[in-house]
Amino acid sequence: MAASIIDGKQIASAIREEIRAETEALKARGIVPGLAVVLVGDDPASKVYVGNKEKACQAMGFHSEVHRLPAETPQDDLLALIERLNGDPAIHGILVQLPLPKHIDEKAVIDAIRVDKDVDGFHPVSTGNLMIGDDSLLPCTPAGCIELLKRTGIEIAGKHAVVIGRSNIVGKPAAMLLLREHATVTICHSRTANLEEIARQADILVVAIGKPKAIDARYVKPGAVVLDVGVNRLPDGKLAGDVDFESASEVAGWITPVPGGVGPMTITMLLRNTLTAAKRIHG
Ligand code: GUN
Repeated sequence: MAASIIDGKQIASAIREEIRAETEALKARGIVPGLAVVLVGDDPASKVYVGNKEKACQAMGFHSEVHRLPAETPQDDLLALIERLNGDPAIHGILVQLPLPKHIDEKAVIDAIRVDKDVDGFHPVSTGNLMIGDDSLLPCTPAGCIELLKRTGIEIAGKHAVVIGRSNIVGKPAAMLLLREHATVTICHSRTANLEEIARQADILVVAIGKPKAIDARYVKPGAVVLDVGVNRLPDGKLAGDVDFESASEVAGWITPVPGGVGPMTITMLLRNTLTAAKRIHG
């Protein structure tokens, strides 16, 4: 194996220690960061993600609320809950776990979250602020990717970053953040012609397509940095990324494993966003 491993677990743990110190300082002023997570329905993966968010908040000494609602909850009831959380002084961050059941308009729900409590960074105002370079709470997974690069000492400015995937949650915001860090950015997606050729030009390759082991060594320039955002459950129950680790790590210079790469950063960035929101709300 040629590549060095980017250890997301270790980096996430170092950041959590920083968050812990800042949380203690805030608590000394009588402020306890508070996160409300809303889960509608019983999607098994969402249940696991929400449980992990709850545990992480509790371990950090945050105030944590999880609102578990039945799948048939009317949209108006969900909007009323968000309105209540928007006005709750103990809550600084609101996260509605996606996907939502089909009868609920996801956009109406995201739009209803107070922008300064939008710890997912999915509100159109947060997205717009990211686009124009203004201060906003950043989407957690893309922010985690940037932290991994910076804390590994990988230069971003001037590099060619290729992002495979154009979702609102990862691909698009990851591309904007890399641009903000002065990379030259290419976004590829399912209709991209010559994906292999373009990916192989990347100094930094970010893969977020939700297809297990789809990207192998043929897509990787020797020495490139590969960030694998994928979390796919294989039929045998094991987790696999979107990158074929065995193959890609023969060629890459740096690579994130799955699990233990980008994954641990996402909840860490959620904790940081909640802390930031608490600090901003209380001035
Ligand atoms: N579902 C999958 N990823 C996410 C995320 O980052 N935030 C929310 N709210 N839902 C998700």
